[in-house]
Formats: sequence, C-alpha cells, structure tokens
Amino acid sequence: MRLISGTTAVAALMALVPETLAADSAVFRDSETGFTFSQYSAPYKIGKTIAFRVAVPSGATPGQPYDAVIQVAAPNDVGWCGLAWGGRMTNDPLTVAWANGQSAVVSSRFTTQHSFPQPYTGASYEVFRTGTKSNSTHWQYTALCRGCTSFPASSSRNTTLNPNGANTFAFAYASGKPSNPSSNTSSFPVHDSYNYWSHDFASAANPDFVSLVARNSGRALEFVA
Ligand code: HEM
Repeated sequence: MRLISGTTAVAALMALVPETLAADSAVFRDSETGFTFSQYSAPYKIGKTIAFRVAVPSGATPGQPYDAVIQVAAPNDVGWCGLAWGGRMTNDPLTVAWANGQSAVVSSRFTTQHSFPQPYTGASYEVFRTGTKSNSTHWQYTALCRGCTSFPASSSRNTTLNPNGANTFAFAYASGKPSNPSSNTSSFPVHDSYNYWSHDFASAANPDFVSLVARNSGRALEFVA
C-alpha cells in the first residue's frame, strides 16, 4: 500500500501515479474534496494511466448497501471510460463517463449481455462541482453513487460489495467519443480495451464520509438517475 498526498494544486490533483505498484490500489488523499480514496491506475497508452478512485463510509455493515464516492481522472484523449462495480460487463452497475467541455458527464448503465449497456436507474449519482474539472492534460469527475455497492447480480441473487476488504472491479475505455457528449443517455463506441483489478475498500474508508458528502453535495453540479 502506498500513500499519495493530495495538494490543492489542480495539476497535482490530476497527476496520475506511475504504474509501479505491487498492490492493485493505493491511498490517495484529495485535499480538494476532503475524501480519502483508494486508487487504481489503469494502464492507458504508453506513459498514461486512468485513475479510478473510490471512497466509502467507515463502519459500513457487510451485506447492507452503502453509498460510495467515485473519482476518475483521465487523460484528455480518453473518449469515455467506465468502471464495472461487480468486476464484469454484465449484471452489475457500470459507471460510464466522458468529458463535456470543461466538465464531465456521468452515465449510469447496466446490461445483461455483451452489448450496448442501457441507462440504469438502480444506481444514481450526484456529480460534485468540487473535484469535477478539466485542464490541459486531464478531465476529472467526482460523484456520490447510491446503488453501486449492492446490485442484482442475477435474477435470484443480490451482491453487496465487501466494505472491509478487496472487491473485483473491471474497467473499460475507448478513445472514440460519445455521439452526444452533453447527454448522459448518449451512445458511445465499444471499448478499445478492458481489464480487471482488485480494489481495496478497507483503505477507502472515511470516518467523516457523511459530513464530506454533505459539504460537497451542497455544491452538486447535477443529479444523474
Ligand atoms: C458500446 C458499448 C459496449 C459494447 C458494444 C460492448 C461489447 C462487449 C463485448 C462484445 C464483449 C465480449 C468480449 C469482446 O468481444 O471483447 C465485452 C466484454 C467486456 N466489456 Fe463491454 N461493451 C460495451 C461497453 C462496456 C462498458 C461500458 C464496460 C464497463 C464499464 C464494459 C466492460 C467489459 C468487460 C469488463 C468485458 C470483459 C468480459 C466481462 O467481464 O464481462 N463494456 N464487451
């Protein structure tokens, strides 16, 4: 486990850690939003990574749904990137996002097949103004997700992610852009690449999660159902 210190400098916040970690995820403290995230740096192009960061409340009860905050920082040539909370494309919440001008759009998706994932109301997002931005190299969003940690993994079984340990995640991305970037129901091209990792939730625990959500939520950009 490595500790990455956040600073208030925009460039430093968006800086991505070189992919030299022995473990899949590292701790990232974001002084802008106040959350402590567990971060995975997904390999993108040579010398580039996409940072997927998750923050959860301390003391969440195993087996019970809980909220999570997701923050993603992606190079500007990423057309869209997505996170699969159950570690596969099918039957779990897909958090798909892309840049939109100086901001970003988050799109809630779900699919039961390896085909275009449709909008999903089982997970909803509040996109925070703080921590959602772009600069000359990266775009980034920060959002609260309700419905990402517990989901219908099959018609007979609900899966709840372990708040105290590692969960298998998957990412996917494409350099192709969505057809209508200002809309969270836009279509987008199939992925160029996908892969899996183990994301540690224990080190993503925030004792002050509720107050941090309230602080950042008061400045929410949009609500995505
Ligand atoms: C345009 C939308 C999409 C299409 C048409 C699509 C299609 C497919 C297809 C056909 C496969 C089978 C393997 C292959 O041929 O490479 C696959 C696999 C996969 N896709 Fe997608 N996909 C889309 C979006 C997404 C999104 C948004 C995610 C995650 C956020 C995702 C994650 C994955 C993963 C992790 C796999 C590996 C197999 C699995 O774990 O289920 N895909 N996709």
